Amino acid sequence: MEFLSSPSLRIMILCVIVLGSLTAASAGNLEQHFDITWGDGCAKMLNNGQLLNLSLDKASGSGFQSKNEYLFGKIDMQLKLVPGNSAGTVTSYYLSSKGSNWDEIDFEFLGNLSGDPYILHTNVFSQGKGNREQQFYLWFDPTADFHTYSSLWNPQRIIFSVDGTPIREFKNKESIGVPFPMEQPMRIYSSLWNADDWATRGGLVKTDWSNAPFTASYRNFNADACVVSSGASSCSSNSASNAWLSQELDSTSQERLNWVQKNCMICNYCTDTKRFSQGLPPECNMS
Ligand SMILES: *[C@@H]1O[C@H](CO)[C@@H](O)[C@H](O)[C@H]1NC(C)=O
Ligand SMILES: *[C@@H]1O[C@H](CO)[C@@H](O)[C@H](O)[C@H]1NC(C)=O
Repeated sequence: MEFLSSPSLRIMILCVIVLGSLTAASAGNLEQHFDITWGDGCAKMLNNGQLLNLSLDKASGSGFQSKNEYLFGKIDMQLKLVPGNSAGTVTSYYLSSKGSNWDEIDFEFLGNLSGDPYILHTNVFSQGKGNREQQFYLWFDPTADFHTYSSLWNPQRIIFSVDGTPIREFKNKESIGVPFPMEQPMRIYSSLWNADDWATRGGLVKTDWSNAPFTASYRNFNADACVVSSGASSCSSNSASNAWLSQELDSTSQERLNWVQKNCMICNYCTDTKRFSQGLPPECNMS
């Protein structure tokens, strides 16, 4: 594949071996993969990097970003969201490249009053253009325990999954003129912040600061991915574990995705004929 072509195969193999051993040594260690970038004091690495907590109080939210840039990958993270009354808070967890024509793969969790459901908001940006929202209710309480949120990003598709259940697929439709994230390496970002002007019931329910600090937790990060450094891309060591590079939905996964889309989806840009009165985006007419 073109993106794998490197000036020297030998150097690449060397990098892969080095990366492979690094990865093995640091699996799950958040300290080795992420930097806290925002809200110093509100973000904490805990248990020798096994756990990362972000928090939000009236003074500040907090956030982190990956040290590495990735060009394609299967990236898993376990999150436990702000419990209790989290109305007004948003926990964002996403991949993004830089510049005005950036690409982005978004998970955003919109908090709610105790007992009311979170909304999982997803979006895909390619070449600086988004407007591809799909929102879901989850089939469990995402604040009671850790759950795994995964982005599979390969040259053919992006698949969002929750605990291994695919919830959304964005296929590469460059053949009909829809830009797809193909060339720009992305970092992983996450932040916990106040968005009570829109997040909960469209902004009707405000953040109750008497519940602050609000805390979201992260653990068990895993990336089977191609890491870009100095312009060269290298993928994980073991070729069997690179199956994700051409992974697609098998019939069982497709059925599960259909189930989620039928039962848990709140809104879908592809059916928003009001917004797209001039015609739905071309990728929507495909399936
Ligand atoms: C919060 O709960 C209300 C009532 O069940 C629901 O309509 C809404 O979609 C939930 N989520 C958000 C983020 O507003
Ligand atoms: C980190 O978050 C967990 C909840 O997931 C909580 O039990 C723990 O007290 C937090 N630790 C710190 C130091 O904030």
